Amino acid sequence: MNNIIWTPESWRKKRIQQVPVYPDSKDLACVERKLSQYPPLVFAGEARQLKERLAKVCQGRAFLLQGGDCAESFDDFNANTIRDTFRVLLQMAVILMFRQKVPVVKVGRMAGQFAKPRSGDTESRDGVTLPSYRGDIINGYEFDGDARVAEPGRMLRAYSQAASTLNLLRAFAYGGYADLHKVHHWNLDFVKRSTQSTQYESIANRLDEILGFMSAVGITAETSPQIRVVEYYTSHEALLLNYEQALTRRDSTTARPAHGYEGDWYDCSAHMLWIGERTRQPDGAHVEFLRGVGNPIGLKCGPSITSEELLQLIDILNPDNDPGRLTIITRMGYQTIEKALPTLIRHIRREGRNVVWCCDPMHGNTVVAPNGFKTRPFKNILAEVRKFFDIHKSEGTYAGGVHFELTGRDVVECTGGDQEITEENLAAGNYVTLCDPRLNASQALELAFQLCW
Ligand code: PEP
Ligand code: CO
Repeated sequence: MNNIIWTPESWRKKRIQQVPVYPDSKDLACVERKLSQYPPLVFAGEARQLKERLAKVCQGRAFLLQGGDCAESFDDFNANTIRDTFRVLLQMAVILMFRQKVPVVKVGRMAGQFAKPRSGDTESRDGVTLPSYRGDIINGYEFDGDARVAEPGRMLRAYSQAASTLNLLRAFAYGGYADLHKVHHWNLDFVKRSTQSTQYESIANRLDEILGFMSAVGITAETSPQIRVVEYYTSHEALLLNYEQALTRRDSTTARPAHGYEGDWYDCSAHMLWIGERTRQPDGAHVEFLRGVGNPIGLKCGPSITSEELLQLIDILNPDNDPGRLTIITRMGYQTIEKALPTLIRHIRREGRNVVWCCDPMHGNTVVAPNGFKTRPFKNILAEVRKFFDIHKSEGTYAGGVHFELTGRDVVECTGGDQEITEENLAAGNYVTLCDPRLNASQALELAFQLCW
């Protein structure tokens, strides 16, 4: 199947799904050339470090928390949106670490989550049919013939937005914002009157006491920088391979010039990349591309995947059985997970493959409300995660992580939770996602408090 030698462009010889048709191929080639000369967004050493952290998850000694927008947008791009998503992830991580006493590896769906797979190539409204919206890196959201044309220049804009986002995230992570002495300040104003807020404040108070005690025994931010800074990684679906290829670079630190080896390849658009449920064909372009880069990678798996197919994909994507290299992100739906997951787990365990098992309880639980809004009931999201933990417990395997679509903002997109959001509430104006419904900050914290493994 993989009888071709991998190169950053070998995916072009494979069948590809979910790609836009660019009307102007010259323009496309010109943009790809430009991007390939721009600086990488992340450094290969960081991606390797994330792989090491995920290896710990694989061994049951850490937990993966991955989350962020379904689709980042060009219009909704500002410091507050970035900060709010960053801090709700930090809050969730504090809750999980406090409760479970394991390190939490924090990975944002941020700084590059722009391309979206779609169930149809076209969208029709009132008798008009146009190409589907495929994410801001490809075309425009407005239902308008011009906007829906795939435009290569959008990749440059996505690169620049990803660079600014990463710059701010790095500043937050290392510049003092993520200091554990600041846990009280992370509490978002609109969450303040909720049960989550009271529970969170109680953790924050206890943390203050612990930090005070530690400081008395000489453990401070000076002696232990982990108190003041946080490791934060970025990820997105590697869907638009033109963009991914252009940001794929040799890691010169692994070069061995005496042997004529120029170094390992890394996709430097993000630390971690994943393959979506719709593009995971073992002989397809997306699998081909990702098998050759050194980053840690994710593989989304829905209920239709068979154990044999999963094993085949694992062999292609992680032939050295390297722990931390591959995260299986299952997204089965709360009604299907009990039927689908145990068989996969047993097969992969029997074959001795090292993978991180992570649960995406969002994509298998999407429903359309009678008023036409795509939504996800909080109770179904929670039910899938709980079943995920229960299944792993009874199989004797480690439930390594969770993957959420969430935002730090006060949106109204998923129903239920303590706020008791109803389907009618979805129409009231705070439904702003460009693609799938996200948990809001309050729902995200509520979920973190409910997670236990
Ligand atoms: C997503 O993560 O936004 C997505 C499209 O997921 P999946 O590939 O699992 O459907
Ligand atoms: Co989504």
